[in-house]
Amino acid sequence: MAPGPLSRISRSIRRDLDAARERDPAARSTTELVLTYPGLHAVWMHRAAHTMNQRGWHLPARMVSQVSRFVTGIEIHPGATIGPGFFIDHGMGVVIGETTEIGEDVTVYQGVTLGGPGQESGKRHPTLRDGVTVGAGASVLGPLEIGEGAKIGAGSIVVKDVPANSTVVGNPGKPVVRDGQRIDPEKIHHPDLDHTVLPDPVAEALDCLMQRVEELEAEIAAIRAGQEPPPKLGDADCRDKVKAGIREARKASMDAA
Ligand SMILES: CC(C)(COP(=O)(O)OP(=O)(O)OC[C@H]1O[C@@H](n2cnc3c(N)ncnc32)[C@H](O)[C@@H]1OP(=O)(O)O)[C@@H](O)C(=O)NCCC(=O)NCCS
Repeated sequence: MAPGPLSRISRSIRRDLDAARERDPAARSTTELVLTYPGLHAVWMHRAAHTMNQRGWHLPARMVSQVSRFVTGIEIHPGATIGPGFFIDHGMGVVIGETTEIGEDVTVYQGVTLGGPGQESGKRHPTLRDGVTVGAGASVLGPLEIGEGAKIGAGSIVVKDVPANSTVVGNPGKPVVRDGQRIDPEKIHHPDLDHTVLPDPVAEALDCLMQRVEELEAEIAAIRAGQEPPPKLGDADCRDKVKAGIREARKASMDAA
């Protein structure tokens, strides 16, 4: 027999309490959690508001969400879909938008925004897969996907999808860990300019420019020494290669922006 609504609610409350106990080392007792954790109060009020919203009671749902915001400092739109084991630690200043989807056992800290990038309608807020952690003050903006088990560092601003099991920090958020492997920070902030790792068109453009510089230097040296200039090897396609290289570099910098 399928569990009744009361048993479902009590199971969900127990799971939320377990999540808080597991993830907050400061939590001492169930009584303390029930009485003093605004993150739990906000999630419980959200679950009521979400059910009302699903039944089409939009205004009462918004009213419950606003009372919750007044009491806890946490604003969750009733339309947001939140899975079991969700824990908001401290909580003040958390904002969760209407089309946000949150999987199981997700943790967010105070000041987190799961928001839309602008005035668009439709799906405009992020999707957080199971086990994601979002650090204090971080903003995740747009209909992005934050992969299973990913961590968003405190204060980061994330505007692109985040792969599963990776850690993203900074503004704009960039991965520093992927599948448990540290990503060399030098490579993130100062990309390697070795020709072998440049995109081919850029490498070719630089190669032919270097060749032209060497030819011109040899020509000047020969003229200064009163000798016949050496024959130009030349590269008939050099101009086209340089143009292609510039195009590629522009495209790469626009993609990165
Ligand atoms: C990102 C975080 C999850 C750590 O993840 P991690 O996988 O253990 O990563 P590391 O600590 O090894 O850090 C990796 C690199 O990112 C940097 N880094 C870590 N957190 C950062 C942050 N929030 N912002 C910018 N850089 C950060 C580290 O300095 C390190 O840089 P380095 O490689 O140049 O030394 C953690 O630092 C964090 O921000 N947690 C949020 C906790 C929080 O909000 N607590 C509030 C409690 S009230």
